[in-house]
Amino acid sequence: MKERILNVHFSPGLVEAAELAGSTVVVIDLLRATTTICQAVAAGAGEVVPFLEVSDALAAAAEAGRSNVILGGERGGSRIEGFDLGNSPSEYTPEVVGGRRVFITTTNGTRALDHARRARRIVVGAIVNLSTVVASVRHEPRVDILCAGTGGNTTHEDLLAAGAMVHQLGSTATERWQTNEAAREACRHWESLVAAANAASRQPSEQLAIELRDTLGGRNLLAIGLEDDLVDCAQIDRLDVAPELDVQTWRIH
Ligand code: MLT
Repeated sequence: MKERILNVHFSPGLVEAAELAGSTVVVIDLLRATTTICQAVAAGAGEVVPFLEVSDALAAAAEAGRSNVILGGERGGSRIEGFDLGNSPSEYTPEVVGGRRVFITTTNGTRALDHARRARRIVVGAIVNLSTVVASVRHEPRVDILCAGTGGNTTHEDLLAAGAMVHQLGSTATERWQTNEAAREACRHWESLVAAANAASRQPSEQLAIELRDTLGGRNLLAIGLEDDLVDCAQIDRLDVAPELDVQTWRIH
């Protein structure tokens, strides 16, 4: 039986961009960049273009014609001055982004996407599209799940989402995966969360929303009054999209 490779990296600082070359990389920034990008694509955005810097996004918007694009994203968790939207998934409705070009820049999420630029495929992963992402990568010979983290630090929210993917890949694949230690650790944390949900007669999404309150990203969002985002980001399989960042055109569809 041919073993395929499944790695988790808890932050971009823990894996060289060159090590991801040729792989299928699932980038996760659960709170909130990748959840929000999934929401934008599910809401019918024509394309989502990630930018590293605010100045890059503003310059590209000016070039495209400011009224032709929606500018979204955050710094310090809040909407950026001159931008149309912040980084809450609920802002990206069909009415607002349907058929529109969305330019987005976030503190860590768009940076993690950039770190994966040498991959063969870059898939935007979250909890809201867990099963669709798993189905889209499960036949790949090698999958690297790249967590965005925060400011170079590992974050528990990304670890939990990565663990959910490892768990689901392990339970659906007919072939064996050769996993790294981080993948096994993430999976153990996710399985503990599911066990805690069962013990408390809660749905895993409900348990996740509770546990997100005590994560680095969760605490940051609570501090600026964005509690509802935790619930939105915790809804398992709310969306059936697996957005991909085209490494040639640098556009997400
Ligand atoms: C990030 O990219 O760091 C996150 O999107 C932060 C946030 O959503 O506030």
